[in-house]
Amino acid sequence: MRKPFVAGNWKMNTDSYTSVNLAKDLASGTLEVASESITLAVCPPFVYLQAVAKALSASNIAVGAQDMYFEPKGAFTGEISTSMLKDVGCAYALCGHSERRHVIGETDELINKKVAAAIAGGILPILCVGELLAEREDSQTEDVVTRHVKCGLAELNAEKVSAVTIAYEPVWAIGTGLTATPQQAQEVHDFIRKLLAEMYDGQLAGEIRILYGGSVKPGNTAELMAQQDIDGLLVGGASLKADDFLAIIQAAAQKT
Ligand code: 13P
Repeated sequence: MRKPFVAGNWKMNTDSYTSVNLAKDLASGTLEVASESITLAVCPPFVYLQAVAKALSASNIAVGAQDMYFEPKGAFTGEISTSMLKDVGCAYALCGHSERRHVIGETDELINKKVAAAIAGGILPILCVGELLAEREDSQTEDVVTRHVKCGLAELNAEKVSAVTIAYEPVWAIGTGLTATPQQAQEVHDFIRKLLAEMYDGQLAGEIRILYGGSVKPGNTAELMAQQDIDGLLVGGASLKADDFLAIIQAAAQKT
């Protein structure tokens, strides 16, 4: 059985005060949520990682980075390595978020290097995949997702891939208020799981958690989580409001 996993992606939001306050509200709001029932993480901006990790140190909520670089150290101005992330208490890193693919211009090759470096460096990667609206309308969803998954995991064996979480985030549903219907999301999650079974084996495919992301709210959490292959949620906007994120966590933890 795959344990539900809810992660909040704060993107380029919060400041030194509000990030820690939000973390404290989440820590106190999840005191009753058993770590056996759900995996939890938040991904604040790099500059607040350490303070947020400290505020969450007595909680079940792990901290993740929104990105990372694949080189271990050196002349890479502006970049952050896995050892730096571990040093400030980070357990996860998002790799290939659609905003990094489409706004910053990251390629599948770069994302693959980041996923590999995260695993090698002891950071658990959350590989984000998903199609643009034009690609969905052009019936290319499966091709795009196949490319993102195959390229993102290229050269990684099954043992390494067991450290990976996949997040399916259709770009047209991110920050738009347009959520994929539970059926649309389930179809793609099922497709990804079958793809993983083809690439590796059925056992590994059955163990990897596949999260859905894109306009997740307290009101649509239960129906998304009710889908067989939706193992959790990657939440943007609603993760910035403690009450909303806590409601999402409570609903997702009900999945049995
Ligand atoms: P929203 O929940 O704001 O649509 O963002 C989703 C997302 O991109 C999470 O990584």
